Amino acid sequence: MERILNIETIKHTGEKVRVCGWVNTRRDHGKLVFIDLRDRTGLLQIVCQSALVKDIKEEYVLQIKGIIKERPENMVNKEIETGKVELQAENVEILAKSSPIPFDFMAEDLNLKLPTLLDYRPLTIRNPKIKSIFKIGEHITNSFRKTMKDLDFTGFESPNIVPAVAEGGADVFHVDYYNYNAYLAQSPQLYKQIMLGAFERVFTITHVYRAEPSITTRHLAEYTSLDAEISFIDSWENLMDICEKIIKNMFSDLEENCQKELSIHKVKVPLSGKKIPRIKMREVQQIILERTGRDNRKEPDLQPEDEQEICQWAKEKHGSELVFVTHYPTKKRPFYTHADPKDPDYTLSFDLLCRGLEIVTGGQRINDYDKLTANIKKWGNETKNFSFYLQTFKYGLPPEGGFALGLERIVKQVLNLKNVREAVPFPRDMERIDQRLSTLQKKKTKKSKR
Ligand code: 4AD
Repeated sequence: MERILNIETIKHTGEKVRVCGWVNTRRDHGKLVFIDLRDRTGLLQIVCQSALVKDIKEEYVLQIKGIIKERPENMVNKEIETGKVELQAENVEILAKSSPIPFDFMAEDLNLKLPTLLDYRPLTIRNPKIKSIFKIGEHITNSFRKTMKDLDFTGFESPNIVPAVAEGGADVFHVDYYNYNAYLAQSPQLYKQIMLGAFERVFTITHVYRAEPSITTRHLAEYTSLDAEISFIDSWENLMDICEKIIKNMFSDLEENCQKELSIHKVKVPLSGKKIPRIKMREVQQIILERTGRDNRKEPDLQPEDEQEICQWAKEKHGSELVFVTHYPTKKRPFYTHADPKDPDYTLSFDLLCRGLEIVTGGQRINDYDKLTANIKKWGNETKNFSFYLQTFKYGLPPEGGFALGLERIVKQVLNLKNVREAVPFPRDMERIDQRLSTLQKKKTKKSKR
C-alpha cells in the first residue's frame, strides 16, 4: 500500500490507508490512546487501542495502517486541516525511536532565548512557527528567480573562493588556498559584471561572507545574496524600477501563497504603496532633523535609528513601509560605484529600506575602463589584483548597474523577527558555527607562506 500524506486523508473516508510521521502528542484515555501524528503537511488524529502503542512516546516515527473515519460533528477539530476525520489504527510499526524530549519544542509560542533556540536547532526546526520562517524564505527566493526569468535575465553560479576583495573594508575571511592568499567572496559583484559581456542581464543566488567584527541583530557572517545586474540601462533609475518590480512581485506572492505562514506570525506583508518613494540621503537627514531634532546632516551614512525614522515618515506620508534612499556619498561606496555627474561627491546609488532596515543595495557602475582603473587605485588597491575583472571593461561594456537583496533581512522584516539569525536555519556569526564557538577548542593555525 502506498503511503499517503496526512492532508490527503480527508479524501479517503471509509478507506484503508497507510500514513507515516512523528508522534506530536499522545493522550491516554484508558484503553484508547489518541495520537496526533505529524508529517510535512500537518497533523492527523490517530485512535488506537492502547496495546498497539504501549511504549510509544513523543517524536517516535511511526507507520500506521488503518481506516479513515469521519468524526461526529461535535468532535470536529477546526484548528487542524484534517480535523473532520481521524484514523482508526489497525497496525502500528515503529520506524525510529526518540529519546525523551528535553523541553516542549513544539509549543505554539516557543519563547526561547536565541542561543537556546539555535543550540537545539535540530529540534526547534520542527516547530510549525519556526518551520514557517524557512517556507517564507524559500518563497522569496523562488519569487526572485521567477521575476528574473520573466524579465529575461540569465542565471549563473558565482564562485565563493575569490582572489580579490570586491566590497572593500576589512570584513573578509581569508582562505589558505594551497598556501596562496584568497578570500571568501563578500559578494558576486565582480563576476556578475563580467557575465554581462555575454548575457546583458544576469542574476545569481549565492552565499556570501562578511567577517563582521561585532554581533548585531542585522548582521550575519554568511548570508544569501539575491543579485541582479543589468546592462544597456537608459538611466540608473531603471535599476530601482526593476528592483521595485521584484519586491512587489515577492510580496504579492507571499500574500497569495503564504497566508498560513504569515498568520502564524500574526503579520501582513509590508505596504509598498503605488510607488515606493525615492529620496536623497541628504534630504533624509534634513527630514530626520525636522522630525526628531537629531542633526546628522554631516554624517556619511544613515544610523539605524535614522533608517527607522525615515521608514515611519514614508508610511505616514506615502502609505509605504519601503523607501529608496539615494545618492550616498562617493567616499562611502565601493570603487566600482558611479559618481553622480552633477555632483561627484555623491553616487548614483541607492538602498531600499523596509520597516526600518536596509534590505537592498544597488546603483550604477563605472563602465569606462580608464575611470575604473583610476578608481581602483584611488581606493588604495592594486590594479593587477583586478586585471582579470578589468578585461570586461577593456573590451567594451555598456552602461550598467545592479543591486543585491539580502534574503535573511527580507525574511526578518516581513515576519517582524527580532534577530536576523532567526531567519537562517544555521546561522554563522562571531559566536557560532552550529555549536557555540566558546565550547569548541581553538585550532592552532599552521603558518602559511603569505
Ligand atoms: O550593501 P551590500 O554590502 O552591497 C553589495 O554587496 C553590493 N555588491 C550590492 C550591489 O549590487 N551593488 O549588501 C547588499 C545587501 C544589503 O542591502 C543587505 O540587505 C544584505 O546584503 N547584507 C547583509 N545581510 C546579512 N548580514 C550581513 N552581514 C549583510 N551585509 C549586507
